[in-house]
Order: sequence, then structure tokens, then C-alpha cells
Amino acid sequence: MSETPLPKIVVLISGSGSNLQAIIDQVTQGNLKCEIACVISNRAEAFGLERAKQSGIKTQVINHKDFDSRESFDVFLQSQIDLYNPTLVVLAGFMRILTASFTEHYEGKMLNIHPSLLPKYQGLLTHKRAIAAGDDFAGVTIHFVTAQLDGGPNIIQAKVAIDKDETENSLAQKVLVKEHLIYPMAIQWFIENRLKMNQNQTVLDEKVLNEQGFELD
Ligand code: GAR
Repeated sequence: MSETPLPKIVVLISGSGSNLQAIIDQVTQGNLKCEIACVISNRAEAFGLERAKQSGIKTQVINHKDFDSRESFDVFLQSQIDLYNPTLVVLAGFMRILTASFTEHYEGKMLNIHPSLLPKYQGLLTHKRAIAAGDDFAGVTIHFVTAQLDGGPNIIQAKVAIDKDETENSLAQKVLVKEHLIYPMAIQWFIENRLKMNQNQTVLDEKVLNEQGFELD
């Protein structure tokens, strides 16, 4: 009897790929039941490409500088992703602002990780801004991607305390530990059909989540 094929995901990166590595590790250990069909980077020097190759995963570089507009880059990127007919597109440190037509194409099928407790600190320098504001907590959010930058409905958040002498770097390290924990969880929920986006809200196990999403202790 032939086995049912695993759901496919495509992972987009721009840099180190430590979240990609966390996903690869969970797939390798059999906890995350999907196939990483391809890792696509917009930067040829992204270390995440090496991580993928080490694990025998197909890679592709699509350099945004080879395109004369954001639209033409996104159109080509979409054509390449769709070659795999993925169940889910995973943005893992993919540092590009996406066009509305691209995000609409993958609506409800594309996740992003953002290093703040969204809706706080959309955009860049999230840890620096949290420390400067005197916040007690920082954290990470996994959310569905919509046309609104860092604005789609939250799926899961994890918090870390900001200590008295915290630096941007020390905070980033603490948050990354949580990132690596929660991204594979959210992906697993999605491929198990437990997680959906409905009318710009996140539904997990048939329940609409509140604005923060699922809060990991
Ligand atoms: C992660 O901290 C992720 O949350 C952040 O980029 C880093 C990528 O690290 N994403 C964003 O800032 C998206 N706006 P990684 O390449 O080691 O996974």
C-alpha cells in the first residue's frame, strides 16, 4: 500500500535561518509531519541556505535586486513557490515587504514570525524599542500574513521578561529560544487542519482566538 504524501511547505528566508533550523529539526525528529519542498532566499549569502543544503533540502535564490519592481519580484517568487503546490508558505526571517496581490494569493496559507508581542512594535528594531519604552516584557508572535504589514491575525505568542540590564542582543537571544519553540508548533497545528484564518481572525480547534492569539506560558 502506498503511503499518503506528506503536506508540503515552502520556507522563505533572508538570513541566518535559525528558525528554519528549528523547523528542520522537528521534521527530522518526526514531530512535524510535513516535507520542506524548498527553501527560497532573496539573498545568496543567507546562511539558512547552507542549513537547508546540509539537510538535503532543495534551495533557490531569487535576488530582489534582479527585478525592476516589487511587483515583478513578487510575481516571479509566487510562480516559483507554486511549482510545489505547497499547503503552507512559511516566512522565517524573510525581510521583504510583500505586495497585496502576493499576500492575497496565499491568504490563510502563509505564516510569519515577528520578534515582538504584536500589535506592539510592528516593523524593525523591535527589541530596541521595547527596552527604550521601559516594557516589562518582550516576545515573539506567529501570525497569518495579510496585506497589512505585521498586521494579520495573531496565532501564538510567547513572552520573555526584560531584565534590568537587558541589551538588544541579550533580549534577541532570549526571544529566539521562544521563536524556535513556537514556530514548529504553529506549523504543526496548520498541517493538522486545526488552525485556520476566517474573516481576519484566527480559529484554533474551532475556537476564535483573542487578539494576542494563543499565549504560551
Ligand atoms: C527572527 O528573529 C525573526 O523573528 C525575525 O527575523 C529573525 C530571523 O532569524 N523576523 C522579522 O523581523 C520579520 N519582520 P533567523 O534567520 O535566525 O530565523
